[in-house]
Amino acid sequence: MGNEKVWQGNTTFILAAAGSAVGLGNIWKFPYMVGSNGGSAFVIIYLICIFAIGLPVMVSEVLIGKYGRKSPINSLKNLSSEFNLNANWKYLGILGALSGVLILSYYSVFAGMSFSYIFNIFPSNLSDPSNYSSNYFKEFSSSPLSLIFWHSLFIIITCFIVGLGVVKGIGRSVNLLMPFLFIFIILVSIYSSFTGDIKSTLKFLFSPDFSAISPQVVISAMGQAFFSLSIGMGAIMAYGAYMPEKQLIGKTVITIIFLDTFVALAAGIAIFPIVFSNPSIEVSAGPGLIFETLPVAFYSLPFGSFFSIIFFILVSIAALSSAISLLEPFTAWMEEKGFINRKFIVVILGILIWFLGLASIFSFNVWSDIKLFNLNFLELLDYLTNNIMLPLGGFFVALFVGWILPNNLINQSLAFGKFRLKLFYFFLKYISTSSIILIFLYSAF
Ligand code: TRP
Repeated sequence: MGNEKVWQGNTTFILAAAGSAVGLGNIWKFPYMVGSNGGSAFVIIYLICIFAIGLPVMVSEVLIGKYGRKSPINSLKNLSSEFNLNANWKYLGILGALSGVLILSYYSVFAGMSFSYIFNIFPSNLSDPSNYSSNYFKEFSSSPLSLIFWHSLFIIITCFIVGLGVVKGIGRSVNLLMPFLFIFIILVSIYSSFTGDIKSTLKFLFSPDFSAISPQVVISAMGQAFFSLSIGMGAIMAYGAYMPEKQLIGKTVITIIFLDTFVALAAGIAIFPIVFSNPSIEVSAGPGLIFETLPVAFYSLPFGSFFSIIFFILVSIAALSSAISLLEPFTAWMEEKGFINRKFIVVILGILIWFLGLASIFSFNVWSDIKLFNLNFLELLDYLTNNIMLPLGGFFVALFVGWILPNNLINQSLAFGKFRLKLFYFFLKYISTSSIILIFLYSAF
């Protein structure tokens, strides 16, 4: 393989993988899930899942990619033939590439919404901002045309970046965008801590309340941990394939996980003080939390509209750097087949994803009554990908690296000390696999 598909410098891989991990999952989903799953109880379980399941699985994904040096599908294929393993392991890569495309189809709808909110500035002197905001959101989500507009724009930008290639497209854009994301999230958290109710926020996020822990909270926390770390579908595996040879896997993954967790918690600190400072807003507002309620809260604070714009730019950057990682595994796979070039591949995938996204858009409006198992299309797709495909992907990654791949390959690639290696195997072989199965079975029956 030539040098053209290797990240420039060690930070690019970290920024690309952190860019993948930090997304709507951290800034939009994490706060509302904390809000509707009992606050600190959810936070604690989430952190446990991140370290006990997420960390070993992410290390495994990077390892497969770094060793295989190809798209997830072909890395798995090559590893299987090199070590005489079952040829079906490549289907794990195919499952991932498909999950990525499915997730991107609805991810882009919400990402498009956050784009549009950069430009959604409230008129001054409203008598009832909360009413204005919820009407605005209702009107926006019930109009397919405006949703389609922003969805299309988002898909075009995503495909453009991925089409430019690994180094010139993905690498360059994360180097440019991620620093802004980190600066903005810190800025907004500081602003919120000073203008909003930080005391209630800290209590809500961190004071342990074990009575609120229920099986449902555990399932949601694990699903959220997978989604937030971008594991279980090969995004991190695909990025691992472009890692510089000398870069150490363990340290790098720890940094990525730290950044992801930091942004999720910072998002909580950015959002909840504002929410708590406004008595008319419920913390358990659900998915509408940042689109419907947050703008109202910003409205009533000093320099609120300025910070609202900064906030939605930050959300959009986070969404974009994640979206490109959802598209990369499928794109890399097609590129390796060699029929057509990368630019053409992303155009075709983009069109497919765009069409699929229409179904999610219509779930808000014209198709909102069409339901299967009492879920509309968007909810069904969300359930299928997050609660089934990602955990399944994660489980098989853990199985493959923990139980199937030869140990000497792993030991060499990781270059861990004795103790760390033991810990890694213990968590990967036993804890990750069994907890995924348990939680999976529980949620299925
Ligand atoms: N992790 C991203 C988020 O938190 C979403 C995402 C990007 C993702 N790539 C992924 C989720 C791969 C699962 C798998 O918003």
